[in-house]
Parts: sequence; structure tokens; C-alpha cells
Amino acid sequence: MFTLATQFLSFVFLCGRMDEAVSEYVVFKNSKVCTDGYFQCANDTLCVEQGKICNSVEDCKDGSDERNCEDVHDNNYFDQMVRKNPSAEHDDDDQNCALSFNGTGCLCRSRGLYCRNLNLDVAPDIPDEEIDILDFTGNNFTSLSSRTLETLPNTVKKLILKHCNIKEVLSGTFYKTYTLSQIYLDNNQLKVFPSDLFNPENALRDLIVSYNEIEIIEENAFVNLKYLIELDLRGNKITDINLRAFEPLKSLSTLYLQNNLIKYVLSGSFPRMSFLTTLWLTENRIKLIEAEAFENLDYLMSLHLSDNRLTELRNGTFLNLDKLQSLSLNDNFIKSMELGVFTDVPNLTSLKLENNKFRILDKKLLQPLNKLENIYFDSFEMCTAATHVRNCFPKGDGISSQDHLLDNIILRSCVWIMGAIGCTGNLIVLLGRLLGPSNNIVHSLYLRNLAFSDLLMGVYLFTIASVDQEYRGHYLRHQYKWRHSFLCNICGFLSTLSCESSVLILSLVTWDRFISVTQPLARKQPSPRTAALTLLVLWMAAALVALAPLSNFASSYFGDEFYGSNGVCLSLHIHEPYAMGWEYSATMFILVNAFALVFISYAYVRMINEIKASGVACRSTRQSEERDKVAQRFGIIVLTDSLCWVPIIIVKLVALFGVAIPPDLYAWLAIFVLPINSALNPILYTLTTTVFKKQVRKLANKCISKRKRPEHVHSASESGFSLSFGVFPLGGSSRRILSHRGTQSSITASKNSWKRSTAV
Ligand SMILES: *[C@@H]1O[C@H](CO)[C@@H](O)[C@H](O)[C@H]1NC(C)=O
Ligand SMILES: *[C@@H]1O[C@H](CO)[C@@H](O)[C@H](O)[C@H]1NC(C)=O
Ligand SMILES: *[C@@H]1O[C@H](CO)[C@@H](O)[C@H](O)[C@H]1NC(C)=O
Ligand SMILES: *[C@@H]1O[C@H](CO)[C@@H](O)[C@H](O)[C@H]1NC(C)=O
Ligand SMILES: *[C@@H]1O[C@H](CO)[C@@H](O)[C@H](O)[C@H]1NC(C)=O
Repeated sequence: MFTLATQFLSFVFLCGRMDEAVSEYVVFKNSKVCTDGYFQCANDTLCVEQGKICNSVEDCKDGSDERNCEDVHDNNYFDQMVRKNPSAEHDDDDQNCALSFNGTGCLCRSRGLYCRNLNLDVAPDIPDEEIDILDFTGNNFTSLSSRTLETLPNTVKKLILKHCNIKEVLSGTFYKTYTLSQIYLDNNQLKVFPSDLFNPENALRDLIVSYNEIEIIEENAFVNLKYLIELDLRGNKITDINLRAFEPLKSLSTLYLQNNLIKYVLSGSFPRMSFLTTLWLTENRIKLIEAEAFENLDYLMSLHLSDNRLTELRNGTFLNLDKLQSLSLNDNFIKSMELGVFTDVPNLTSLKLENNKFRILDKKLLQPLNKLENIYFDSFEMCTAATHVRNCFPKGDGISSQDHLLDNIILRSCVWIMGAIGCTGNLIVLLGRLLGPSNNIVHSLYLRNLAFSDLLMGVYLFTIASVDQEYRGHYLRHQYKWRHSFLCNICGFLSTLSCESSVLILSLVTWDRFISVTQPLARKQPSPRTAALTLLVLWMAAALVALAPLSNFASSYFGDEFYGSNGVCLSLHIHEPYAMGWEYSATMFILVNAFALVFISYAYVRMINEIKASGVACRSTRQSEERDKVAQRFGIIVLTDSLCWVPIIIVKLVALFGVAIPPDLYAWLAIFVLPINSALNPILYTLTTTVFKKQVRKLANKCISKRKRPEHVHSASESGFSLSFGVFPLGGSSRRILSHRGTQSSITASKNSWKRSTAV
């Protein structure tokens, strides 16, 4: 406690100097080079820290730190992921028909014929004129052959055969229509992509065969397609990449193979395709990429390998890809990467690595990538391994950012305010109870312990706020050191200890009241000694729970980041619900809290009922009014407990079921909701009560006239029991029922017996 207090004070003193000592920029007057982690503004010698680039605040005088923030490759990634409807390009065409077609069914617009959903099984007569688009979407061709398309003139440019229930395509189908430049065969039921479909004279540029059931691509499937630029095979059941089949595609520039069943990319899987710039292999089952797998694709600029099952990347995987600019490896299971794996891709500008298994990166790994501009990780902490990259994502985790431990200004103020309320409120309760007269020792003991437990939360909040102040503006550089520091572990310990002990003590207090209200005769009030012993056991249990993650012998289970997994040193683990030691965290935050909550709610409902039932005997309206007040206060206590625990239990559960929790919500839970009880408990249980106010007034009076003796004994006894219940201006029978066995229990007992007699 004492060391913490001095720590805190030293932070407070430090922060005043910090702001002056470290300016936002490191200026090199003569050279034009910024140190690692800083980036130069466009027109001056200022250097801006990585976290301040593209953070929507202009730090350079010319604002150049907020320019070039778009990742072109990332935009392309999402653009290419979904293919546009082929006829959408013709939406703006002239509505009038420019063809001499006068058959029925088909719609003619400009130079396009739209024969959709006509249940045709052969193509109708089509005029021999220049046709831009011939759309057969939704017909029933079943088997496609040169006979089916016999009536097509060889003047059509774009042929659309999607959703046509096509089960097979026979050889030579497109022999006659060799002028076609685009063929759409997507969303059919092809199982085999047959060989020899195309005329040697063909000029086909785009072939779309996505969302079929293709398992086999015959060896000569793409023969003669020497002008093909785009081949779309996504959404099929391809298991192997057929080297021979792709060989004729000398002009191919984009190959879509995503959403197939490919497991391995072996060395030399791809033939030399010296114009291939974009290769999609996302959403496959790729476990292994052999070294030199892409060595023949030396023109490749984008390689997408996301959503696969990669676990490691070895040296040489990207051999020969020195033109590669964008590489996506997100959504895999990558645990390890050999240090030399990126030396072959020096021109990379965008690298996606999010949603993988690795948690730390060697700084040397990304060092060869000196043209890298955008990099994407799971957590902003990993940006420490990429300080030479201008734009590192994510920028924060909801609580912290690359700049600050507590990023949000409201959150930050909340930490200070809740810390202040928690500390002062509980200190006042502690001191007040030490100084003030106490008639009911046991209850005073309970409340003092509760106040101490809540005080720990206040200390925790103050410590976090001070550390935030110390690292303000440069958090990224210090975050690793901080999260693994002794103080962070102490913070985690304090917050856990406070939470658990507070829950346990609240349950104990409730239990005590519950027994005294429901069975006034059955049980005597515990002696101060028993109470102290019970409390000691509770504290030890809570301390054990909080200490376990720090112990050496269980470190293999908890890892070294159980408390330090985030900047506020909480083991709530909502971001990564299955991080090391998650069962422990789940038990702590879900089971214990839920159990306590259910018990406390149940107990208070029973007690209120009991009081109401006993109220049958009372006639006066004043007494019934008081009953309502008691019920109200009970309600408030249960409500604040729920306010604190229910959201945490729910969010934690939901996170365990795999729902992504918005980072902001997490931040509010951790910083605002979790400690709210600690700040409110002293107010609810002690401070707002009239007896407390009376006591304060009395104390003040005493100070003024020291000789004056405290008022009569009755008020002291009243304060004793009132404080213990947090239920204040009580009088008459309801007070007696709530109060302790001692003097009043006989009255309660007689009331109960009265109840019994009326019930008979
Ligand atoms: C840098 O200054 C030059 C001339 O002073 C100006 O033309 C240019 O737009 C400036 N660049 C930026 C990024 O502000
Ligand atoms: C369209 O109608 C004209 C007469 O109105 C006829 O001469 C011509 O052959 C028809 N064309 C087609 C393609 O049916
Ligand atoms: C499509 O054609 C086949 C025979 O060619 C037929 O059996 C099937 O019922 C047709 N489907 C529809 C939806 O008309
Ligand atoms: C991979 O390459 C790096 C750097 O070139 C080298 O240090 C490392 O030993 C290599 N690893 C293996 C297994 O060859
Ligand atoms: C890629 O990097 C190499 C040097 O490693 C360089 O010679 C080449 O011009 C770069 N290519 C592009 C497209 O930037």
C-alpha cells in the first residue's frame, strides 16, 4: 500500500516534467533522416511518430501526416472479392433496340439481347449483327454443345450463360463463336471442365466458371486461350493445381482460385505465366506452401492467401516475387515465420497479417520490407515490430492506442473520477468507522472490510491513471515493458482481489441479514471473533484467486500475460476470450459473479417479502411508508450490483461464444462498469444515510465543543444497526424486523408466531 502510494505520488510529480522534456517531434536540423519509429513531414524537417500518422489529427504543419492514408491494395482487395453483374455495365445503354431482332421473349436494348428466364434449351435465332451482350441467364440448357449455340452468329462479344442448369459442356462448343471476348458460365453444375472447347482462332479475354462443382480440369482445358486475361474458377471443388492445364495461358493476368479445396501449393505448381499479376488463393484449405511455390510467377504483384490453414512460413516461400506489392496472409493459423521469409519480396507495400496465432514478432522479420507502407496486425502492440512502416493497423484496442494508455478522453476522466470517488468515499467510511462510535461491532467490521476492498479498486484506478499520465503520447514504445512490469501485475492483483473480496463480502453481509430476517430465533449473531475469522477466510480465498496467476508453479497455464494482456492489466480477456488461462478468467467473472448475483437477488426478494408479510400487523400509514422505503433501498442495492455484474457476465459469455465485441464496449466495461460498485458501495451503504449525516454533524459538534458528551445511548445503537443494513430512517416494527436478534428479536418472534396463528 505504502509503496503504491509513493509510486503514485512520483508519477504525479513526473508527469509535470514529462510534457516539457519530450516534445512531439524529434528534429534533425541537418540530416533529413528521422529515427526509427518517426516519419518525416513532406515539406519540413519535422519528424512525426508512427502513432500520429493518419490519426485524423494534423501534426505536420502542412498536414502531410494525414495524407496518403488510403491503402490502394486494401481497396482493390475488397473490390475484387465480389464480381459485378456482367449486364450491369450495360445499364446506361440506350433503351431503344439497335438490332433487327423481332422474335418474342427476348428483350432488346441498344446492342444487347436479354433472353432471361425463358426456359430455353437451345438458343433462338439471333440476327447476324454486331451484338455487345447476349444474356441467357436462368434458362435450361442442361447440356451445352455446338448444336445448342448453333444459331449464334460469330459477332457476339459477351455471352452470359449463368444459372442455366448446365451439367456438361461438350468439346467444340465455342468453336463457331470464336469472336467472343467474354464467357460467363458461373452458377451452373459443371463437374468437369472439358478439353478442347475453343477455336484456335479465338480471342477470348475473360472466362468465368465460378460457382460450379468442378473437381477436374482436364489437361487441355485451356488450350488455345492464349489471349485470356482473366480466369475465374472460384467456388468450385478443385483440389489440385493442374500445372499443365494453366500452361497455355500465356497472357493471363488475374487468376481466381479462391473458395476451392486446395490443400498444398507445391514447388513449381504454377507454370511460367509472365503476365500474371494477381493470384487469389483465399478460402482454400492450404496447409503447406513449399519453398519456390511461386517461383515461375515473377510478375506477380498481388498474392492473396487469407482464410487458409497455414501454420508456418519458411524461407523461400516467396522466392522470385520481387515485384510483389500486396500480400494477404490474414485469417490463417500462422504461429511462426522464419526470419528470411520476407527477404524475397522487397517491393511489398501492403501486408495483411491479422487473425493469426503469433503474438510476438521479431523486429528482424519485417526489416527487409523497407517499402512497406501499410501493415495489419491483430493488436496494436505488434506495431513495435514494424516501427519503420508508416501506417500500422490497428491503431488501438479500444482502451489504449499507439499514443496513449487511456486513449479516450472521457474514459480517462472516468478513471480519475471513479478513482477519486472510490478512494475518498471508502477512506471516509474507514476513518469514520474507526473514529465514530460503533454499537454493532460485527456489522461495522463487515462494512469496514467492504470499504477496504473497494478502496483497493480506487487505488488500482489511480495507479492506472498515473501510468497513463507517465506514458502519455508515447505509449507504444513502453507498452511491452509496462504490461510485463511488476506494477502491472500488482494492478491486476489489486483489481481481482478487490472484485472477488467485494463480491464475497457482499454475499456474506446479505447472508447475515437474510438469516436474521428469515430465522430470527434460529441463529445468534456471530461473535466478533467468528465474524473476523470468516472475513479472514474470505480475504484469503480472494487473495489466493488473485495471486494464483502470478505464482511460478502455474505459469505454464497462465502464461506471462494473464494480467498484462492489455494496458489496464485486467484479466477480463474479452478481446481474446480463449487466451491462456481463459477457464480461470471465465470462472472468476462468470461463475462466481453469477452465483453471488443470484444469491443476493434471491435473498433480498425474500427479505422484502418477509417485511411486507410482517407488515400485516402494522396499521399506521407511516409504517407502511417506511416499509416502501426499505424495499426501495434494497432494490437499489440489488440493482447496482446487477448493473455491475450482469453486463460483464453477459459480454464475457457472448465473447466466449465467438461474437466479436466492439473494442469501445470492452473499454467501458473494464474502466467504468467493473469498478462502479466500488465507488457506489460507500455511498449506498453508509454515506447517504441519515444516520451517517447525523454522525458527521455530531462529530463536527464534538470538534467544536470538545467537552460535550455524545448524545444519548439510543442514537448510538440506532446508528449501529442502521449502518449495518444500509437502510436508514427506520422506526417502528419494520426496523425491528430488520434489526438484530439481541433486543428486538423477541418482537420479531412474537410477530412471526402471530403470523403463524393467523395462518392456521
Ligand atoms: C511543399 O511545398 C511546395 C512549394 O513550397 C508545394 O508546391 C507543395 O505542394 C508542398 N507539398 C506539400 C505536401 O504540402
Ligand atoms: C423480322 O420481321 C421482318 C418482317 O417484319 C422479317 O422480314 C424478318 O425476317 C424478321 N426477322 C427475324 C429475325 O425474324
Ligand atoms: C430442364 O430440362 C430438363 C431436360 O432437358 C428437364 O428434365 C427439366 O425438368 C428442366 N428443368 C426445368 C426447370 O424446366
Ligand atoms: C532463413 O533466413 C534467415 C535470414 O536470411 C536466416 O537467418 C535463417 O537461418 C534461415 N532459416 C533457415 C531455416 O534456413
Ligand atoms: C523491385 O525491387 C527491385 C530491387 O529489389 C528493383 O530493382 C525493382 O525495380 C523493383 N520493382 C518495382 C516494380 O518496384
